[in-house]
Amino acid sequence: MNSQLSAAITLLPLLLLLLPNFHTALADPLAEFCNKDNAKLNPGSSSRLAKLLSQLVAKAPADGYYATSSGRGRNKVHGLAQCRGDAAAKDCSTCIADAADQIARRCPGLPDGRIWYDNCFLRYSKANFVGKLGNNSPAVIFFNAENVTDPETFNAKLAGLEDVVRSQAVKPGSKGIGKGETKLLPPSAETIYAVVQCTRDLAAADCGRCLAAAAAGYFADYCDNKKGCRALLDGCYARYELYPF
Ligand SMILES: *[C@@H]1O[C@H](CO)[C@@H](O)[C@H](O)[C@H]1NC(C)=O
Repeated sequence: MNSQLSAAITLLPLLLLLLPNFHTALADPLAEFCNKDNAKLNPGSSSRLAKLLSQLVAKAPADGYYATSSGRGRNKVHGLAQCRGDAAAKDCSTCIADAADQIARRCPGLPDGRIWYDNCFLRYSKANFVGKLGNNSPAVIFFNAENVTDPETFNAKLAGLEDVVRSQAVKPGSKGIGKGETKLLPPSAETIYAVVQCTRDLAAADCGRCLAAAAAGYFADYCDNKKGCRALLDGCYARYELYPF
């Protein structure tokens, strides 16, 4: 898993928005974002954060999702951890444990941290973000620099596939995930694979808005005609490739 991941990343040129401190070493996350805009955590909220992270690690794997808060008043911190909806239970718990460990190291004392892996996403903040869709920024965008050979056919097929997976993701009981594939016609006969995932605290309408920002927005801005693309946001992610993932 990890060697595949790092191979994939080194082959793909990547574009990072607002993420200057990006790492690609083995076992690292895909990306993290530490918000440095607001006041640092006070000592009380730092100790609540440690408690919050251990609760997320303990409780999220059972159902692949958990959101909670810890502390009161100025010490209060909020957190959410979620696995990709189709991740195996073992991969889910490993991923959340890694995410909690890494975010504490990577965003020391900072009031808002987010971390993305293939199999999970974790965020904490002094602000109560749970159940609220933010402004879909910052986003992390990865893309395959190669263009498809027949953009017109490809884009029509991709648009159809995106509609299908986005409507799956907003359905009750979907755990926020939509995934599917569609075959291109000969001579290429390649298959496009797509996965979208919303965080499960979001209402269906907000999930739809987030996925629209990811796919209609960031994909259109950065991945026109590209063979693969992914947009990682705080409320959702969207990805398509010409290989299964
Ligand atoms: C790839 O597609 C983009 C977007 O349509 C275009 O601007 C660019 O020139 C293409 N690159 C090549 C090498 O064809």
